[in-house]
Amino acid sequence: MIYTFDKSLETGNTAIDTQHKELIDAMNNLLTACAQGKGREEIKNTIKFLVDYTVKHFNDEEKLQKQYNYPDYAAHKKLHDDFKEEVKKIVEEYEQDGTSVVLTFKINNIIASWLIKHIKGEDKKVAAFIKNSK
Ligand SMILES: [Fe+2]
Repeated sequence: MIYTFDKSLETGNTAIDTQHKELIDAMNNLLTACAQGKGREEIKNTIKFLVDYTVKHFNDEEKLQKQYNYPDYAAHKKLHDDFKEEVKKIVEEYEQDGTSVVLTFKINNIIASWLIKHIKGEDKKVAAFIKNSK
């Protein structure tokens, strides 16, 4: 399944939306690599990009929230931290057994669904708060 960055995912904050687009692209690249049965090395690189980009994006988003004194910062950061732990587990599992069918399932059902739900819910709240503070 390939994900499309459509209107429903737009928060209206350009900086956040640009990074979300990159995240969706990275996820799609990983899913494509799995579907095409790409080698372990290539899948490892695409996972690494997705993980690094997720961490960078969360850091940037958290900085922005602090800058605007977002009242739900602590709760939002906890969601990010828990998700990072979840992703770490998936990566460790992949490194151990490397089965791409299981990996594809987890990317779709854990990573993608979490990100999409988070963007549509929590991140839209952040973007609306920032917009109203300006
Ligand atoms: Fe977030």
